[in-house]
Amino acid sequence: MTPNVSSIDPTTKQGPRENEERIIIRGGKPLNGEVKVSGAKNAVLKMMAAALLAPGVSILRNVPNLTDVHMMADVIRHLGAKVTVGVDEVIIDASDLTDYEAPYELVSQLRASFVVLGPLLARCKQAKVSLPGGCSIGERRIDLHERGLKSLGAEIYCEHGYVHAQAEKLVGTRIYLDKPSNGATENIMLAAVLAEGQTVIENAAQDPEITNLADFVNAMGGKITGAGTYQIVIDGVRVEDLHGAVIDTIPDRLEAGTFLFACMATTGEITMTNCNPHHLYSVISKMQEMGAEVSIFAPDVIKVRSGKIRAVDTTTLPYPGYPTDLQAPMMSVLALAEGTSIINETIFENRFMQVGELRRMGADISLTGNAAIIKGVPKLTGAEVKSSDLRAAAALVIAGLAAEGVTEVTGLKHMDRGYEHLEDKLRGLGADIYRR
Ligand code: EPU
Repeated sequence: MTPNVSSIDPTTKQGPRENEERIIIRGGKPLNGEVKVSGAKNAVLKMMAAALLAPGVSILRNVPNLTDVHMMADVIRHLGAKVTVGVDEVIIDASDLTDYEAPYELVSQLRASFVVLGPLLARCKQAKVSLPGGCSIGERRIDLHERGLKSLGAEIYCEHGYVHAQAEKLVGTRIYLDKPSNGATENIMLAAVLAEGQTVIENAAQDPEITNLADFVNAMGGKITGAGTYQIVIDGVRVEDLHGAVIDTIPDRLEAGTFLFACMATTGEITMTNCNPHHLYSVISKMQEMGAEVSIFAPDVIKVRSGKIRAVDTTTLPYPGYPTDLQAPMMSVLALAEGTSIINETIFENRFMQVGELRRMGADISLTGNAAIIKGVPKLTGAEVKSSDLRAAAALVIAGLAAEGVTEVTGLKHMDRGYEHLEDKLRGLGADIYRR
């Protein structure tokens, strides 16, 4: 295989290696049938961190088998928790924590692990957590985490690539977030669980994963109200009031959205089970505008049927707005729409990494600032493409399912972080897809 010039990796100056694992898709088959959505990665990772707050055994159920879950298990094992990752559950015994430092080699593998900062600070009175650094989708600062924890009374400084935090006691206060950051809301909320008095987070992230996290903490004996709204109130409790708990992880709305767009791209007809339609309103509404027929069967089934795709304009926004994580999957569908669409990406500075690869498949997309202008084309053609991040990987798979001929997607480590058995599930819907 001769590497195409535009698929040369700029960091290594090398093309895709012959023996690199890849997904191979023979496109053009409409998806058809039923698929079950897995538990939400972005909920379970935070709940694993929250389990550190309490001595005792917690059981998280409906857990997807993802590399991120295994990496998070390694992070909290390093801190002294005993963790068993089962088929679809994780059992965590956080009775005895032995360390308050989350080192670079673990945190740099998994940004989400930065959320151990809040629980460690609250329970151990100190924490040393590696700064996660930037990543392929953007700068991803942590100033809001720091400011929030400082307001609770923690002394915080950064040195040699680590955030050091310490507080003999945390005291509840009112904290306004400049942006409704998920990570900052989670770190502050978890630290405030063991603070003295009441903490109010204003302009909090409203994502369903935050509600799942608060429900878990409340099952552990915490006192959180308002999660899922812009104002979260946390009444501090003592560590003796907390205990292990059992929680079901919510369905992964981002995996669900990915299946919906895969169905649209292939003009298919699928039924999705174990999903929560309430978490997908912004996405379903856009899909309907794009021409899909979407039916909701309460409480957890969505059916979608797709025909001709219409162009639409979209702006990514914090939840309940259109999610940045489904911007790339939607773009692959709009690449085949009748007319021109515009997507404005307002959450991350660098989340159009899929565009160059989609162009190699025949898409007509141009970028100007934080906007992508997508002129629909009648067909995409299969090509060798490389994914740069999790959702870009999903976008390339969707494009491959719709394209004429064979698409080979490399960079699978990104996909395996967030999609459980993606190719098996798609094969179950009739796709010609396998991994080699
Ligand atoms: N931000 C700041 N300062 C901060 C924190 C965030 O300026 O202190 C900015 C970020 O740079 C970004 C915006 O606020 O522009 C939102 O970032 P947020 O903190 O909400 O993102 P996150 O918590 O780091 C989570 C998900 C992402 C998802 C974003 C947005 C996890 C593990 N990650 O990241 O998911 O895109 O929220 O919804 O929950 C993915 O699953 O592929 C993924 C990247």
